[in-house]
Amino acid sequence: MSGLEKSIHIKTFGCQMNVFDSDRMESILVRQGYRKEADLAKADVLLINTCSIRDKSEHKVLSLLGQLKPLKEKYPHKVIGITGCVGQRMGRALLQRVAHLDLVMGPDGVERVGELVEEVVSRGRRVLETSFDNQKERSYSQPAVIDKVRPSEFLTVMKGCDHFCTYCIVPFVRGREKSRPIAELLDDVRRFVDRGTKEITFLGQNINTYGKRTGESLAELVLCTNEIQGVERIRYVTSHPRDLGMDLIRQFGQVEKLCPALHLPFQSGSNAVLKRMARLYTREEYLEKIAALRAARSDIALSTDVIVGFPGETDQDFEQSMDVIREVGFSGAFLFKYSPRPGTRAFEFGEEVPDSVKTERLAHLQEVCFGKIHEENKGLVGSTVSCLIEALDKKGRYYTGRTPHGKLVHVLNAGEACIGKILDVEVTEGNASNLKGYYVGAPRQDRTRDSEKAVSA
Ligand code: 5AD
Ligand code: SF4
Repeated sequence: MSGLEKSIHIKTFGCQMNVFDSDRMESILVRQGYRKEADLAKADVLLINTCSIRDKSEHKVLSLLGQLKPLKEKYPHKVIGITGCVGQRMGRALLQRVAHLDLVMGPDGVERVGELVEEVVSRGRRVLETSFDNQKERSYSQPAVIDKVRPSEFLTVMKGCDHFCTYCIVPFVRGREKSRPIAELLDDVRRFVDRGTKEITFLGQNINTYGKRTGESLAELVLCTNEIQGVERIRYVTSHPRDLGMDLIRQFGQVEKLCPALHLPFQSGSNAVLKRMARLYTREEYLEKIAALRAARSDIALSTDVIVGFPGETDQDFEQSMDVIREVGFSGAFLFKYSPRPGTRAFEFGEEVPDSVKTERLAHLQEVCFGKIHEENKGLVGSTVSCLIEALDKKGRYYTGRTPHGKLVHVLNAGEACIGKILDVEVTEGNASNLKGYYVGAPRQDRTRDSEKAVSA
């Protein structure tokens, strides 16, 4: 096989679904004989798995692609490919525009990445693959080859979205909703658990309607997963306020392993804006769902997404988003400036809000929202939280993990042997982005001061 001896590097941008897809592509290519190469510049085959949700996400990809030109000129046999949402959105135009690009492929090509790369490598052809497999979701025949234990795993259970929120590119680049069968997902979960995973997060762009074409449901998937021995925590993202039914809401008070945390984007607090976004709910309906969630599980941690500066958003509209932020008290939030995406309906709306106004609104929203989160986290100082230790943080200083409520914790006295363990951590500090603390029952030795003597569980 011509793949033998060759190396691959996959660089991933964007959401967890892309991380999941990159793992699958890597596994397929490794099984085909490729070796993983940690250094992007040294790899024979270099794939960039991309995101197109906002203009900025696309810019990052295009600028990386520009930087790779001299590399391709020096080593013409290297294969450079764009996969994922930018590949889908720009397709042939991208291949035409960037001469040093060999492969352009959309998210539905993941299972075929082996053949497509092979076509470039052995036939020297430039390849474009952006067709949608709209029949059914293919089964993922190749579970990811992973070299280290991952205490917390993401599992894509469905792809695509049937909503057409007017600002959103997802339905265009990921297609209509397609769900994988529960039986196959439970096999994946068991495989994860066998190699040490304790927490599973199910992924879908519009996860509440999982299984709607196959007669299965998210509630059923959650119940079945709850029965699997070794699974300690279950989560799912992303919910849509219209599709989050009472069956799912009640489960937060009933299903033992379902974490008391939910990401529920409201996007705007103004009914006029929600209507133009085609979100299919009102601010009042959103707040009713929040009340029902809190009735089902009083300590549930809620997080959200908000867009500021949607076309035509007035100061009063924006104030209503601020109100929702103040009223609900989210534990986490992703706040975005509206980014026009060609091909979406909102792109044609006009009434663009000036960038300076968007920037101002975003800063104001961040101040209030993150201020509240900071207060909430400070309030946890002195309490003990349960924390699943996942990995060393990016700077290599502390082992980090999450609480059932989804709070990120830096555990100051944890060592490598703590990975995969669920520890009781006494919180000593809380800021807007994380908690810090020491795990109970071990000396309070700060890893940064004495990394050699890191405490082991
Ligand atoms: N501009 C800004 N934010 C967007 N999102 C989706 N599309 C856009 C856009 N065109 C945000 C929404 C969504 C999150 C994943 O990204 O808030 O929930
Ligand atoms: Fe995009 Fe989410 Fe709306 Fe679907 S539900 S169109 S993924 S914002």
